[in-house]
Amino acid sequence: MAEDKRSNSSLREAALAAMEHAYAPYSNFRVGAALRTIDGRLVTGCNIENSVFGLAICAETLAVAYAVSQGLTQFDEIAIATEDSDPTPPCGTCRQVLSEFAPNITVSSYTRDGKEATWTLEELLPNAFVLNPSRGRM
Ligand code: THU
Repeated sequence: MAEDKRSNSSLREAALAAMEHAYAPYSNFRVGAALRTIDGRLVTGCNIENSVFGLAICAETLAVAYAVSQGLTQFDEIAIATEDSDPTPPCGTCRQVLSEFAPNITVSSYTRDGKEATWTLEELLPNAFVLNPSRGRM
């Protein structure tokens, strides 16, 4: 139990630290994310915006991409950190990205001043779309 609490606090701290690296000059909405793999490794991401607004990369999607690029594909929790006054859930696109690798993941979100919220991805994205690989190849 104590170990769970410790690892949750390091996940939160990693998300808050990643938020410091966000590049968000257009929205001024900085986001950090920290993914925990089932063997306890942490992989982080932050949002990265662009002059072409539609090219913005979300923190959660970047964390998943960075993890997968290292061969890490099994996750049990993601922490999100923002400077908003209330904990922010992931956007719809990030929910779908998480669902590809971790449909049962726990999603926790933290504010700088200590508020937190926790959901399951199933609550945030019920009936997620899954492509049947054989579709379209008949
Ligand atoms: N953003 C994230 O990083 N994650 C989300 O789940 C929601 C939105 C970023 C994208 C953009 O840089 C800024 O927050 C405002 O939408």
